[in-house]
Amino acid sequence: MIHPLADVQTKDIGTDTNIWQFCVVLAGAHIGAGCNICSHVFIENNVKIGNNVTVKNGVSLYDGIVIEDGVFIGPNASFCNDRYPKSKNKNFKLEPIVIKKGASIGANATILPGVTIGENALVAAGAVVTKNVPARTTVKGKF
Ligand SMILES: CC(C)(COP(=O)(O)OP(=O)(O)OC[C@H]1O[C@@H](n2cnc3c(N)ncnc32)[C@H](O)[C@@H]1OP(=O)(O)O)[C@@H](O)C(=O)NCCC(=O)NCCS
Repeated sequence: MIHPLADVQTKDIGTDTNIWQFCVVLAGAHIGAGCNICSHVFIENNVKIGNNVTVKNGVSLYDGIVIEDGVFIGPNASFCNDRYPKSKNKNFKLEPIVIKKGASIGANATILPGVTIGENALVAAGAVVTKNVPARTTVKGKF
């Protein structure tokens, strides 16, 4: 189901995925089956989302992020792909983020460029993640 108040430009969406009000999804994005994309989510072109993924409200997923099956992303979590941001940055170097299978990202966590979150890991609410998180671990605060 794509809600009529969403602007979804990609056709690459699996079955039984719901995309709710005021989402914007650009043409190059891939979204798997059985996902729930809650209202006010922005998904850029070079984004891959697996199956059975939940993305809660107010999340932006920028180019270079890969989200594997069964991931949960809490409300207002932030994912950064530019380490030294600047308006109209001529030196922009994309550093991809990977969220591995079954991992969960807490509300309002910030994930810095180039980080991989391991399988079934849990990032606490409000954490700032600066480096890779091993599988099956919980991290909080500045990690
Ligand atoms: C990290 C988390 C899993 C810990 O849960 P828990 O194991 O039950 O831990 P507790 O609540 O018993 O807290 C243990 C300690 O960690 C601290 N703590 C808990 N969550 C924290 C967080 N997000 N950031 C920093 N410290 C945290 C507690 O203050 C406590 O500290 P203390 O021992 O000094 O008193 C949980 O608090 C959390 O952040 N979950 C994510 C929730 C979320 O974002 N959901 C999204 C959908 S709404």
